[in-house]
Amino acid sequence: MLRVLTAVLGAYVLATAAVALLGVGSFVGEVQADEKKKDPTYISAAKCKKCHLKQFKSWSKSKLKTSFDALKPDQRVEAKKAAKLDPKKDYTKDPTCLKCHTTGYGTAHGYPAVVKGKTWTDAETARAALTEGIHCEACHGPGSLYSVLKKNNKKYKRSEIVALGAIAPPNAASCAPCHVKECPTMPADYKFDFEKDKLSEGIHKHKKLKYNHDG
Ligand code: HEC
Ligand code: HEC
Ligand code: HEC
Ligand code: HEC
Repeated sequence: MLRVLTAVLGAYVLATAAVALLGVGSFVGEVQADEKKKDPTYISAAKCKKCHLKQFKSWSKSKLKTSFDALKPDQRVEAKKAAKLDPKKDYTKDPTCLKCHTTGYGTAHGYPAVVKGKTWTDAETARAALTEGIHCEACHGPGSLYSVLKKNNKKYKRSEIVALGAIAPPNAASCAPCHVKECPTMPADYKFDFEKDKLSEGIHKHKKLKYNHDG
């Protein structure tokens, strides 16, 4: 009797464990699928232009726009010479430079990682064209989801766009990874002052927001 009971109990324990495992397995699957659906992607400055012409036009003339081109041969020659870099060299395949001179370097939707001996897929090549340089979404977050919300809801709450991937307002922590003394052209005592630089017209011109998005 005891034996039978143990066997039954054992089978029950095993079955419960199996159900629990399967259950957990499918739950993880669901969460991952869900997160994938919600994963915001970069849509490029051209898409932001439609609704933010003033910022787009001024940014288009900025150094941020051309910060990828700065890595090409014969660009920013004086700055490169002063930093003891070779102005004839092409730095656009150098990952140590690309991580700060492109948007979202090496992330799933950003500028694709450059790995020796590995060629990009067509999709990656297309993505690279959209993420060269420091464009809007490097500071404001990938825009595929929040731009759709704003289209239908001009009076959105800031917490709503943040939940969809926006960095609003941009903060010191979002600039920090790139604005540290790691770039060869930076002076030895380079220091980034967020409060001073955040409203710099070197980024773009500003326009006061029409609606109150607090909350
Ligand atoms: C992904 C890297 C990256 C991030 C993030 C980033 N920057 Fe930059 N920033 C650069 C690079 C690269 C340049 C140099 C552009 C050039 O000279 O080609 C630059 C240049 C600038 C300049 C100088 C423009 C000029 O006219 O000289 C300002 C101001 C600036 N960034 C502010 C910010 C602020 C504020 C943030 C955060 C809200 C920020 N950056 C986030 C990489 C970044
Ligand atoms: C940690 C991030 C970072 C890395 C790594 C980095 N850069 Fe930069 N780079 C910047 C930022 C930020 C600026 C703008 C600095 C400023 O506003 O003074 C800049 C500016 C420049 C400029 C413009 C200087 C000028 O005065 O016009 C050149 C050229 C440049 N970088 C080349 C390179 C090269 C080549 C490499 C790789 C060997 C590299 N950078 C690596 C962040 C980086
Ligand atoms: C280097 C970082 C950086 C880049 C690149 C950048 N912005 Fe900004 N943006 C900021 C900062 C910082 C603010 C000011 C936030 C604040 O007021 O505290 C701002 C503010 C804004 C605002 C709010 C209204 C205003 O004018 O202040 C809009 C809209 C905007 N940016 C759109 C854009 C668009 C569109 C692009 C690309 C064409 C872009 N930004 C590129 C950093 C950036
Ligand atoms: C369909 C139109 C539309 C598109 C596309 C769009 N936006 Fe906006 N955005 C808005 C509206 C509307 C507001 C609120 C304007 C106001 O209050 O005056 C706004 C506000 C903002 C703000 C201020 C955020 C805050 O509340 O602090 C930033 C920054 C911004 N947009 C960046 C971007 C960037 C970057 C892109 C591209 C990835 C983009 N937007 C695409 C319509 C759009």
